[in-house]
Amino acid sequence: MGSRDDKNLTAHWAAHDLGEVVVAADDVRERIVELGRAITLDYAGRPPLLVCVLKGAINFMSDLMRAIELPVEVDFMAVSSYGAATKTSGVVRIVKDLDVDLADRDVLIVEDVVDSGLTLNYLRQYLGARGPRSLEVCALLLKEGEQRVEQDLKYVGFAIGPAFVVGYGLDVNERYRNLDGIYTYVGEV
Ligand code: IMP
Repeated sequence: MGSRDDKNLTAHWAAHDLGEVVVAADDVRERIVELGRAITLDYAGRPPLLVCVLKGAINFMSDLMRAIELPVEVDFMAVSSYGAATKTSGVVRIVKDLDVDLADRDVLIVEDVVDSGLTLNYLRQYLGARGPRSLEVCALLLKEGEQRVEQDLKYVGFAIGPAFVVGYGLDVNERYRNLDGIYTYVGEV
């Protein structure tokens, strides 16, 4: 049996591009159970519609929805704000829109990471205009001190530093989404 860190560092096939473990896989799992519990209590009697922001939030959504003990519904949006680089362009493009009507729904946006906050700001305005009863955010990661737009986040998994990270859904040029832990990226961009 290896230690918690050993387990994360067995991503030997990616090791040349990975720096330190920012959030170990076990810690991600434990925190999501806590978030699921909080959401279950807060939304008792009014199951939310979980809106997953593709692609970065796929792993988070998949685990979070199973940690919530309510008959939630799920839908997916795809937005693009980065292109291939690791710095935000500030331009948000809707690549895939929702399929369901938001009128009078309790909507919970499930987001991977809030960096500048521009993506979320745009999404809030875009979805808020469709008349949901409530619109809240559950973000796995919040990059502390990086927000260009003030954010009111109901649920946050972990506050992290400004470094670019990969794993658990987060990518660089579409790679490393399939890591269980979250790591700094030290490879080429
Ligand atoms: P923001 O608009 O600057 O808040 O950036 C939000 C989006 O950029 C996230 O949903 C991610 O898709 C992407 N992003 C921001 N920081 C990182 C990172 O460290 N790794 C991978 N993707 C990131």
